[in-house]
Amino acid sequence: MVGAEGGLDRAGAGDGAVRAAPPMWSSRLAFILAAVGSAVGLGNIWKFPYMAGTGGGSAFVLVYLGCVLLVGVPVLMSELMLGRMARKGPITAMASLGRRFGGTPAWGLVGVVGVVAAVLILSFYSVVAGWALAYVPKLASGTFAGADAARSAEAFGALLADPAGLFLWHSAFLLATVLIVMRGVRSGIEVAVTWLMPLLFLMLLVLVGYAAVAGDFARAAGYLFTPDFSKVTPELVIAAAGQAFFSLSLGLGAMLAYGAYLPEDVSIPRTAVVIAGADTLCALTAGLAIFPIVFAHDLDPAEGPGLVFVTLPVAFGGMPFGSLFGTVFFVLIVVAALTSSVALLEPAVAALDDRTRLGRVRLTVGLGAFAWLFGLLTVFSFNIWSDVQPLGDGRTLFDLIDWITANLMIPLGATLIAVFAGWVLGREAGRLELGLPPGAVHGLWLALVRYVAPLAILVIAWRKIVG
Ligand code: PFF
Repeated sequence: MVGAEGGLDRAGAGDGAVRAAPPMWSSRLAFILAAVGSAVGLGNIWKFPYMAGTGGGSAFVLVYLGCVLLVGVPVLMSELMLGRMARKGPITAMASLGRRFGGTPAWGLVGVVGVVAAVLILSFYSVVAGWALAYVPKLASGTFAGADAARSAEAFGALLADPAGLFLWHSAFLLATVLIVMRGVRSGIEVAVTWLMPLLFLMLLVLVGYAAVAGDFARAAGYLFTPDFSKVTPELVIAAAGQAFFSLSLGLGAMLAYGAYLPEDVSIPRTAVVIAGADTLCALTAGLAIFPIVFAHDLDPAEGPGLVFVTLPVAFGGMPFGSLFGTVFFVLIVVAALTSSVALLEPAVAALDDRTRLGRVRLTVGLGAFAWLFGLLTVFSFNIWSDVQPLGDGRTLFDLIDWITANLMIPLGATLIAVFAGWVLGREAGRLELGLPPGAVHGLWLALVRYVAPLAILVIAWRKIVG
């Protein structure tokens, strides 16, 4: 718990004050686990495989890897760095750094946009995680044993059509998120990730092992990794870059909030590489767990967002011990989603904890309740309000919230953070905080945050809005 445990009370405010002596994370490993937990989520296990599938496999995967390296890692370094410099929640952090380096606290607005976006994302993230939660008992009870694609699609459709069911699963997931965040950084998030993350990796590896034996592994590996640049289009690059930000939890102040708890002696560049590496490894591993099964059962890799929820139960239903493996897989998704949803709520709690006297428990419950209520828009988007289509073209309220956060708020937040780190902060302040010697690595980082990241992000946002 930030305030009550005294970490931030003893921390510097940013304006030349004494820096926090005690690290908020009990160890470097605990911090890395938490940050990896934030990065690895539905974005890796649900979204990455289906986007790779609709993007033609290796073309998407290779461009995605490029985006992670050229834009993802530098912006991740920037967020962690700014968080640690300020030792505050994202809004106060950006305001105080803005006052100190840019002459205006208006930079706090970056934190405001990020925190609002994070709570909005949490509202639908929780609903999708609720689908995964709903699938755990379905798989465990053998619902999909011997099911064909039609029966699986029907089951998924039935889940979406039932507002009461979606409401309950969404509520259960959000309640779990609130309980973890309420108990604070050390006792809550850290314990959760220390136990859940290794479990997550273990489950992924078991599934890849299973897929290697029971699925068409060679075809999946070729599909994901044989370079085919003929399929690379501007749209694909844009989709891959957007996915890279989302997957690395960038642009919302989440990594900034986690950076605020980062011990002084931890190397940010090295940590950023470890986080991005683990996140990417998880996405690729998820792909290697899913596509062998898809190909072995002659299913469509370009199925779209339904890939996990419609396709895999069919595959699991046809396999020996499929119910067991399917159950494990959906537990895995819920676990991954939980360590990410915690990171969506934490920045908002930390931000308001700095600025109000309400206390962490009340803030967590209040913000959780807001996300829960707002999540009803997503719940009803799939059933009773499915014909409310503010964007036209069959796009529902859920699509609207997704669109505003993913296409506007995340790119905007990431751009402004890159601009602040590259242009406003000052060369030396940034270099010292990153712990880099003067030279090529620092120069490369600076070039990437000054030019490549803002340009890439603005192009993404522009193309998404205009195109
Ligand atoms: N990175 C998470 C995922 O891939 O599912 C989603 C996410 C979590 C985005 C936390 C942003 C964030 F602040």
